Amino acid sequence: MTTDIRGNRTTEAQARRDLADGLERYRRRTKQMMAPLGENVLHIQHNSIMSPLVWDLGHVGNFEEVWLLRELDGRPAHDLAYDEMYNPFDNPRWVRGDLPLLNRTDALEYINGVRGDVLEMLRGIDLDPGEPLLRDGFVFTMAIQHEAQHQETILQALDMREDLAPYALASPRRVPAGRSVDDSETMVIPGGPFLFGTNNSTEAYDNERPSHEVEVPTFAIDKYPVTNRRFAEFVDAGGYGRQEFWSDEGWDWRTGTEHEAPQGWTRQVGGGWLVRRFGHVVDLDPGEPVQHVSYHEAEAFARFSDARLPTEAEWEKSASWGPDAQEPRIYPWGSASPTPMHANVAQHGWGPAPIGRYSQGASAYGVEQLLGDVYEWTSSPFEGYPGFTSFPYPEYSEVFFGDSEYRVLRGASWATSTQVTRNTFRNWDYRIRRQIFSGIRLAWDEV
Ligand code: AVJ
Ligand code: FE
Repeated sequence: MTTDIRGNRTTEAQARRDLADGLERYRRRTKQMMAPLGENVLHIQHNSIMSPLVWDLGHVGNFEEVWLLRELDGRPAHDLAYDEMYNPFDNPRWVRGDLPLLNRTDALEYINGVRGDVLEMLRGIDLDPGEPLLRDGFVFTMAIQHEAQHQETILQALDMREDLAPYALASPRRVPAGRSVDDSETMVIPGGPFLFGTNNSTEAYDNERPSHEVEVPTFAIDKYPVTNRRFAEFVDAGGYGRQEFWSDEGWDWRTGTEHEAPQGWTRQVGGGWLVRRFGHVVDLDPGEPVQHVSYHEAEAFARFSDARLPTEAEWEKSASWGPDAQEPRIYPWGSASPTPMHANVAQHGWGPAPIGRYSQGASAYGVEQLLGDVYEWTSSPFEGYPGFTSFPYPEYSEVFFGDSEYRVLRGASWATSTQVTRNTFRNWDYRIRRQIFSGIRLAWDEV
């Protein structure tokens, strides 16, 4: 028997089929995302902070080869040059455009070949509960989550382009019916100890473990992510020109760039804003969560609002716990896998969804849209939890711990796959980054 993160138990044969289905489903999505793009779009380094998309394509296949064929099954390397080319540490993003990368056809041939071998190996494998890499399919799920995270990276690169049309704002949005809500409503979360993190070792990453008790004082938190309407007030109040709202580093960033609004915003003649998404320019919806802001912008907005950013402990308490909770929830709404009624994830739409649509996705404390729409900046640096041990490799998280330029983001964005969507998931990035699908939720000390 095997058990997934939601506690569902299945036979091992069924678990093997589910893993194979998962691998194939996510791979189909990767291919689907690249299909409408011309060869030039795949090879161009859209921006020095992003990889050419053919790098991501070869890299997900190489990651799968390294972990599933060689680490698990002791097979020889397909081509050692690929290991070097697709190793993210040997090749930081800004040099990837100069590598002799496989083109789409050759990359697909390589990754399809790896996949064929993996599926064959998986059919006969013993998901040995005594072997941590295999227990409940951990390393296969890790490969799926890895590809899912790269899909999000691919979308970030495409969303930076000014001229991508006609890249489809493909599937029509599946957004639940709205109700009219107050975008400044806050919820009070009572202070006290709670269990933070998880001990799950089959889907959670090492940086989410171990579960440990922490205590936070009573605080208030936005019921919804900060909307475009609220953020536009900051812009219109001259927030980008007023040093008093910015940290020293934030002000250095601000004055070292041209940015005077979130990525993609342009002022409309006669008032209001337009926003560019995947090359399409549309009216900015004031009721949608603001996206594409850096930590510095989030922090300045917080100061403008006489608030602060939440710590990741506060964020997770709001998402996982509740007034009478005996144990933490996997998702704010419970343990049912995310559906379009719970959260705007999994690329159902091509951007955040207006607030007030996801009452079914509320946490037990009544906080909404914690998962989906946008990742939310927290004030917490990226560190290991007490008792952290690296598993299965330090390059996923440990090597990033302690770099004071990083901040943790919590939640999930509209582009995050369900396999990476859970309350304990920790994302992180440099404070200056805003090409990610990042937004804001404010917190206040209770006095
Ligand atoms: C967790 C999103 C910060 O993209 O750098 C992908 C995920 N790790 N391949 C990243 C990741 C290795 C990672 N983030
Ligand atoms: Fe990667």
